[in-house]
Amino acid sequence: MKKNVLADLTYANFMRRHWQKKPLFASCALPEYASAVTREDLVALAEQDDVESRIVQNSNGRWHVRHGPFARRDFARLPRSGWTLLVQGVDQKLWQAARLLRELSFIPYARLDDVMVSYAAPGGGVGPHFDSYDVFLLQGQGKRRWQVSRQRDLELVADAPIKILRRFTPEQEWLVSAGDLLYLPPQCAHDGVAVEECITYSVGFRAPAAQELGQRFLEFLQDRLELDGIYADPQRQASRTPGRIPRDMMDRAASMLEKLRWSRADVDQFMGAYLTEPKANVVFDPPARRITLGNFVRRARKSGVRLALPSRVLVSGRNVFINGEALRVRPAAFKLLARLADKRRLAPPFELGAEAGRTLYEWFCAGYIEIGAEPSS
Ligand code: SIN
Ligand code: CO
Repeated sequence: MKKNVLADLTYANFMRRHWQKKPLFASCALPEYASAVTREDLVALAEQDDVESRIVQNSNGRWHVRHGPFARRDFARLPRSGWTLLVQGVDQKLWQAARLLRELSFIPYARLDDVMVSYAAPGGGVGPHFDSYDVFLLQGQGKRRWQVSRQRDLELVADAPIKILRRFTPEQEWLVSAGDLLYLPPQCAHDGVAVEECITYSVGFRAPAAQELGQRFLEFLQDRLELDGIYADPQRQASRTPGRIPRDMMDRAASMLEKLRWSRADVDQFMGAYLTEPKANVVFDPPARRITLGNFVRRARKSGVRLALPSRVLVSGRNVFINGEALRVRPAAFKLLARLADKRRLAPPFELGAEAGRTLYEWFCAGYIEIGAEPSS
C-alpha cells in the first residue's frame, strides 16, 4: 500500500479538517527529498531561459528582486547571507520534483499548479506574506524557521517589489528540517527564514478566478461558434428618421443572438482542454528518430511508457485530454489512458489494444510520452 505522507492523519481527515481551512505540520513526512534537488540543480535551471527564476534579497531592511535567467557570475557576487533563489516549474524539468506531485496525489492533478524550489543562504527568505492558493512546503536540505499566522490583517507594504505584509503577528512557529512538511491554506500569513543554507519545495495549487474562467470559456466558444442565417428585412418600410436604429432590427438581432447557447458537454470539453494546456514556454521534444507504429507498440509493451515531464493528461467522462487537446476513445482504450493519467506511467505488463496503441504512438511522435521507466534521479 502507498505510504501516507501525513503520518497518522488519513487523507480523508486532512481534506475535511485542513484543506482550504487550516495549517498542518507533518514531521518527517518525506525524508527521501532531503537531497533530491540541490543548489547546483537550481543554479543550472536558473541559467535556462525557458525557466522562470528570481533572486530575492533583503539588504538593510529593503527588498530587492531580480528575474532570471542568471549567469553563474551573478551567484558569485551574492553575499554569504540574506538572499534566496526561487525556481518555478521544477516539476517540468526534474524527475525527482515531478515525483513529489505524485506523493500528494490524494488531491486531483486538476488542482495542481507546479513545484517551485528555493535555495536560501542563511537568513534568506521572501519575507512575511500570504499566498492566494493552497501550498505544501516541504523542507529539503537544511533548516528553516516557519512562522505562521491566521491574522485577518493582510495589508501589504505599499512600495515593496514583492508582496510583504505590513504587519505580521506570528501565532505558530516550527523549526523544520529535511523531510518536514507544512500545509498552508490560501491567505494564511507566513514567513520562512533559513536558519542555515536550505532548500524548500513549494507544491502550489491552482484555483481559477471566475473572471479568468469566463474569459477563457468565451474564447473557447468563439472558436466553435456556428450560427446560421443572415439579417434580412423584406418588410421594411420607408423611413423618415434614418438616424434611428429601427426597433425591429434590434429585436431581430436579439433573436439571432439568443441562439448563442452552450451545453454541459461544452463546459466539460473546455475544462479538460484548459486544465491540460501546457505552460507558456513549454516545448515538447519529438523523438530524434521516428519509429514505426509496430516498433513502438513492441517497445511500449516491453518497457512501458511514461508521460514527458511537461505533459498534462486528465480524463473526464469518456474524454481524454492531453496538453490542451481532447479526444474520445472506446472503453478499453479509455481505461488504459485513464490509468496513465492517474499514474503518469504505464509499467509492463499491460494490455495494449489497437486504439490505445495508435493514440500512444501519436503522443510519442509529438513528444508527449516517452518509452521506458522513469529515470531514477
Ligand atoms: C520559499 O521557498 O522561500 C518561499 C515559499 C513560500 O513562502 O511560499
Ligand atoms: Co508563500
